[in-house]
Amino acid sequence: MPRIAMFDAKQYDHDFFAQENRDHGYDISFFEAKLNPETAVLAEGFDTACVFVNDSVTREVADVFAGYGVKLLALRSAGYNHIDLDALKGRLDAVRVPAYSPHAVAEHALALILTLNRKTHRAYSRTRDSNFAISGLLGFDMHGKCAGVVGTGQIGRTMCEILRGLKMNVLAYDPYPADEWAQEHGVEYVKLTELYKRSDIVSLHCPLTPENVHMIDRSTIAMMKDGVMIVNTGRGKLIRTEDLLEALRSGKVGAAGLDVYEEETDFFFEDHSSNIITDDNLLRLLAYPNVLVTSHQAFFTREALTNIARITLENVRLYFDEGRIENPIPDFDAGTGRVNG
Ligand code: NAI
Repeated sequence: MPRIAMFDAKQYDHDFFAQENRDHGYDISFFEAKLNPETAVLAEGFDTACVFVNDSVTREVADVFAGYGVKLLALRSAGYNHIDLDALKGRLDAVRVPAYSPHAVAEHALALILTLNRKTHRAYSRTRDSNFAISGLLGFDMHGKCAGVVGTGQIGRTMCEILRGLKMNVLAYDPYPADEWAQEHGVEYVKLTELYKRSDIVSLHCPLTPENVHMIDRSTIAMMKDGVMIVNTGRGKLIRTEDLLEALRSGKVGAAGLDVYEEETDFFFEDHSSNIITDDNLLRLLAYPNVLVTSHQAFFTREALTNIARITLENVRLYFDEGRIENPIPDFDAGTGRVNG
């Protein structure tokens, strides 16, 4: 029977996996520790290491896993930018959860947009303090404004459809456009530079790849409308934080909704309320009234957690029972002879 070492496991992981594991009865150990070269030793005696978005599988970690005979890396995420795929070659296979709820993420992106636009985060604090003044809370009608969605995979398409529901004009960019879908939903594919130029709101829904690190930087922000709102529920490194801060300071960027942050690994998913935050850029972001930071929680719905647990355990079952890799990392073949399903 597969033995699974789960890293960065919170109580909610325990709860949802326990529920879904009733059909499998696998031996799962839940380790609170994030994965790093020191904690990787916890995988001794396990054949599967199960990791989340801030567990970096570096070459050093892969060496430890391979040394202990870990066979399978089971990602509880769709994104795989935290995995050194070269380091896995010939040693570890990898599976992921390609989609667990595009609605969860797109709806959270909408929550960030609506909050920043109508300033409900500030209204909440004001009225709790019996301050019923509304000056400073002015928003804009989203109806008829232009939204630019970068990346029209599962989440980006859901986002476009939601924004069309608000009767926004929706521009999209994707290197592999889904033309038929766009036509059906009244979405206009344009070049990325045009999207930047025309959008009142830019929302990022593409994966992080070596090519698009810091795609939002000083030069691309300069193309955007004055006062643009930028929303990132993709990956932190899509935005060069220093440049975003500069643009927030000058007013070029009117608002930023960030569910992900370049250096989130050191902070997100943990309670640091009694600590001194040593990351100056994060502190500066948190200080702006027109910036909303959430802690990589866009995926965090009951439905998504159920699907993550179900698909992960099914990935493990198919691998060990049938020798199949059902949900591979795109274009990655570890060369271990297992068949991609
Ligand atoms: P997907 O694989 O269905 O779609 C990604 C789309 O992005 C594809 O259509 C692809 O062609 C496009 N793309 C690739 N490179 C691009 C580029 N440079 N510019 C524009 N488009 C590009 O992925 P899905 O499920 O829609 O997820 C998108 C991303 O959202 C994930 O890679 C992940 O980084 C992030 N995510 C964040 C979560 C959160 O909780 N904040 C949860 C789940 C995913």
